[in-house]
Amino acid sequence: MTREEISANKEAFLRLCRENIHREGLEELLSYLETTDFYTAPSSTAFHLNQEGGLCKHSMNVFYTAKAIYEGIAVPAEQSGEANYNEKISFESLAISTLFHDLCKTKLYKPTEKWKKNSEGRWDSYMGYEVQDEFPLGHGEKSCVIIGWFMRLRRDELLAIRWHMGMFDIGEQGSAQRFALRAALEKSPLVSVVHAADLLASNLLEKTIKH
Ligand SMILES: [Fe+2]
Ligand SMILES: [Fe+2]
Repeated sequence: MTREEISANKEAFLRLCRENIHREGLEELLSYLETTDFYTAPSSTAFHLNQEGGLCKHSMNVFYTAKAIYEGIAVPAEQSGEANYNEKISFESLAISTLFHDLCKTKLYKPTEKWKKNSEGRWDSYMGYEVQDEFPLGHGEKSCVIIGWFMRLRRDELLAIRWHMGMFDIGEQGSAQRFALRAALEKSPLVSVVHAADLLASNLLEKTIKH
């Protein structure tokens, strides 16, 4: 991503936050983001949007994907009475739970020199990223805690952010996490929407740079 694209994405992200979120603590959270690498960090080391500016772009992609699911599936189901849940999804909650779902990835990826063999069998170096977790608290859990330093989250937002990876973030031992994820999905439709949007945006919209 070019410098211009990164700064245009930052402006677009701030606009989305201020247009859709009117909760106390928003400006404090946005000021905190200025002290992190949120706008320049990649979205991953080796998968979706593994490039400078990827994290901010991914956060907006998940917002727009969730908005499409909300408008195309949830709202019609709520209006027709077919919805398999009672409390309507709040659009502000959807914005908070998508735009900030991956704050756990701030201060996480450090640029580092990596090596690969070229077609002649010689080693070439390139700039990539490695994980150095300064605050190893988990994935969705960590995002919940960081947002909570500045803004009071509703229960359904906490569940949606905590479980946005769905089955991809389930421990391999025991069944407690599986039961908890199932219960979270049943408690709030926001959990399904945010997880589906994260999965769809990452897999359908976001290119991986191959070195
Ligand atoms: Fe994530
Ligand atoms: Fe994500």
